[in-house]
Amino acid sequence: MHDSKKSRSSEPRDEILDHEYDGIREYDNPLPRWWVGIFWISIIFTPIYILFYHFGPGLLAHDKYEHSVREFYERQARELAAMGEVTDETLLTVKANPAMLSEGGQIFRSKCSQCHGMFGEGNIGPNLTDSYWIHGGRPTDIYHTITEGVPEKGMLTWKNQLPPAKIMAVAAHVMTLQGTSPPNPKPPQGELVEPEAAAEKTGASEESRKAGSTENPPVGP
Ligand code: HEC
Repeated sequence: MHDSKKSRSSEPRDEILDHEYDGIREYDNPLPRWWVGIFWISIIFTPIYILFYHFGPGLLAHDKYEHSVREFYERQARELAAMGEVTDETLLTVKANPAMLSEGGQIFRSKCSQCHGMFGEGNIGPNLTDSYWIHGGRPTDIYHTITEGVPEKGMLTWKNQLPPAKIMAVAAHVMTLQGTSPPNPKPPQGELVEPEAAAEKTGASEESRKAGSTENPPVGP
C-alpha cells in the first residue's frame, strides 16, 4: 500500500527496465546525488591538477622530496661553514646524496668544465680524475681549494660566487671523478696522494678493520 502511494507521488523511481538476462531484471534508478557530486568534482579537479603539477609550478612528490633534501643540506652546509666545521665526514655525506651530487655535476659542467674539462680530464686547469694533487686530495683539501682558489695560478676563488652548500656539492662531484678514465687526460701534476690515504679518512679503512676483526673474533677462555 505505502509503496505504491510513494512511487506515484515521486519522480520516475523504481521503474523496471525492459531487458532481462537469465531472469535478472534491473531498476532504472538515478545514482545518489553524493555519488554524482564526487564524479563531477573529480572531472573538474583532474585537469587543474594535471596542469598545475605536470606542466605548472606544482612540485610532484619526488621533486618535493629532492627540494627538501637539498634545502636541508644547504641549511646544514651554511651552518657548518659558519662554524668553520666542514669536515671530510660532512663532505662524504654530501657525496652519498644523489640530489646534492646531481647539483654538483650541474655546477661543474657550467662553471668548471671550461678549465678542467667536461669529465675533469683537465685543460687549463689540472686533471681531477687522477691521484695527483697540487693542493691535496682529501675532501676538505678539495673543498678548501675551490673555496679559496689559487688566484695567482688561474684558479678562481669561488666563495664569492657560490654559497657553501654549492661548493660542497661541486667538491663532492670532484670526489666522484677520482679513478675515472676520461678521454684525452691531461698528464698528472702535483704529488701522488695514495687513494688509501684518502680512504683512511672515508671510514673505508675502519670498515676493513671491522671486517678484519670479524675474521679473527676474540676467543674467550
Ligand atoms: C679559469 C679556469 C678555472 C676554472 C673556471 C676553474 N678552475 Fe679549478 N683550477 C684551475 C687551475 C689553473 C688550477 C691549478 C692551480 C695551481 O696550479 O695551483 C686549478 C685547480 C683546481 C683544483 C686543485 C687541483 C689540485 O691538483 O690540487 C681543484 C679541486 C679545482 N681546481 C676545482 C675547480 C672547481 C670545482 C671549479 C668550478 C667551481 C673550478 N676548479 C674552476 C683553473 C680553473
